[in-house]
Amino acid sequence: EKDIESQLPFKGKICLITAGPTYEAIDPVRFIGNHSSGKMGAALAMEMASKGAQVILIMGPSHVVTDHHLIQRVDVKTAQQMYDCVHSHIERVDYAIFSAAVADYRPINPASQKIKKKTDTLSIELVKNPDILASVGSMNKRPFLVGFALETENELEHAFAKAKKKNTDLLVLNSTRDKGAGFGKDTNKITLIDRDQNTIDFDTKPKTEVAKDIVDEIIKRVL
Ligand code: CTP
Ligand code: CA
Repeated sequence: EKDIESQLPFKGKICLITAGPTYEAIDPVRFIGNHSSGKMGAALAMEMASKGAQVILIMGPSHVVTDHHLIQRVDVKTAQQMYDCVHSHIERVDYAIFSAAVADYRPINPASQKIKKKTDTLSIELVKNPDILASVGSMNKRPFLVGFALETENELEHAFAKAKKKNTDLLVLNSTRDKGAGFGKDTNKITLIDRDQNTIDFDTKPKTEVAKDIVDEIIKRVL
């Protein structure tokens, strides 16, 4: 086994992957979250590991199981924890893939006790979370960077702008128009966008196959 491993393309390389949702506390028993399952990130972790990379998988709350001796999994809850965890590793990383559905905002002052039902309306003030991908994109010495984007209108135009703003080498645009694709599903439909705004369209397929397509494009560009 060791012999085969030494011939793998990512042998000796380190890949950091964020995946899953984040949970932002409202009070001790409630949170703001989203429907991300962590499946896409887990599939990417398995694919990178099977090609020899040592993978640091930073996962928000998810039931997805990842079992590979090259995957080191770190479970986190909040966007701030995910940010801190990413930055504690990023200096030694060769490739970074940001597939997490990070909450854009968190409650500014989580209640220390359970909020009791009193008034007819209730407002919760939110504050912006740090943008993990953008923070790595602006580093001087940064890894090869893969970001994700989800748009519901003017998909390509918005995605081009996102790629530029976050300084990604590859941006994975998730289609929201395809019925079989997205949150919680086992399939996905993507368009890849590179630095020169070249686009590559892929068919709807299982997330394990989508992960292969993404990793193959990384290999084409870095090896
Ligand atoms: N992302 C991140 N940290 C955040 C928000 C997003 O690292 N606080 C990353 C996601 O993991 C993804 C990419 O940024 O790789 C794009 O996420 P998306 O939600 O599509 O874009 P936003 O920049 O948050 O813009 P908006 O939600 O307004 O479209
Ligand atoms: Ca967002």
